[in-house]
Amino acid sequence: MREAVKRAQVLSEALPYIQRFAGSTVVVKYGGHAMADSELQQSFAKNVIMLKAVGINPVVVHGGGPQIGRLLERLDIDCEFVDGMRVTSSEVMDVVLMVLKGQVNTSIVSLINRHGGRAVGLCGHDGGLITAGRMQMAKEVVGGHPPEIIDLGLVGEVEKVNPQLLNLLSDSAFIPVIAPVGVGPGGESLNINADLVAAAVASALGAAKLVLLTDTPGVLDTDGQLVSELSPARVGRLMESGAISGGMIPKVSCCLEALEAGVAQAHIIDGRTPNALLLELFTDRGVGSVFTNAR
Ligand SMILES: Nc1ncnc2c1ncn2[C@@H]1O[C@H](COP(=O)(O)OP(=O)(O)OP(=O)(O)O)[C@@H](O)[C@H]1O
Ligand SMILES: [Mg+2]
Repeated sequence: MREAVKRAQVLSEALPYIQRFAGSTVVVKYGGHAMADSELQQSFAKNVIMLKAVGINPVVVHGGGPQIGRLLERLDIDCEFVDGMRVTSSEVMDVVLMVLKGQVNTSIVSLINRHGGRAVGLCGHDGGLITAGRMQMAKEVVGGHPPEIIDLGLVGEVEKVNPQLLNLLSDSAFIPVIAPVGVGPGGESLNINADLVAAAVASALGAAKLVLLTDTPGVLDTDGQLVSELSPARVGRLMESGAISGGMIPKVSCCLEALEAGVAQAHIIDGRTPNALLLELFTDRGVGSVFTNAR
């Protein structure tokens, strides 16, 4: 009985949040590192369906770094990283596309549908969803020389997200699930960091929230303590101190960009916590780090 009372209390606590977000769009980035085990994957799928069931429009963008790494290893294909970015040859791009669209995207779609949702898998090619340019990486060189431009191969950055197809799907009760592959100037596939895609999708859709699920409690400071609330100034200080590195760099910068573009709140939360999405959206106990638009 006590358990049932607690459950009813949690549901009642969710009401103001459901009312606030009903009809709005929430973009959820599901990190490859947060897809730890089958139970967590089920919890994620059910959370997304729950959002849809209470009138919120979830749009999922997923990563897949560890899954790509595993197949490259099995195929014995070497791959270099420069500042956290995977140098992508056309051979590596074939594997990236196979894993992201063929494997990870399809399994997320299948899982959501198995639990009663209506997910549709997409990548940047579908309906001209994501137009991308080649990412240029400039590396500082000592001695007053101009920075060296590093060729990352088929790595892209988002130029434009066409929201038409996403709106069409969301309006018809479908849940779009997007693999972070963009279309380059010559129609080629470009490998894009999924955080950047999620932020660009959130901006293009005028989303109320961007939620990034990863494998840490949120953004940590130099002492490993969670920073619950972030502002551009605080992010700047954390970057300078070296507390933010690797995969966290695109995350914090794309959260700030999404806020600039009008997204009201961006969250970085621990996808290893069961029901992390519901906890963040529907309870008074937010988990992780939040960036709030001060405007
Ligand atoms: N200040 C910080 N706080 C928390 N994590 C940090 C910080 N600086 C660097 N990191 C690293 O960032 C990682 C998360 O980014 P990562 O790109 O590895 O995962 P992801 O984006 O969730 O998955 P994927 O890239 O497959 O989509 C953490 O596991 C952690 O090692
Ligand atoms: Mg990442």
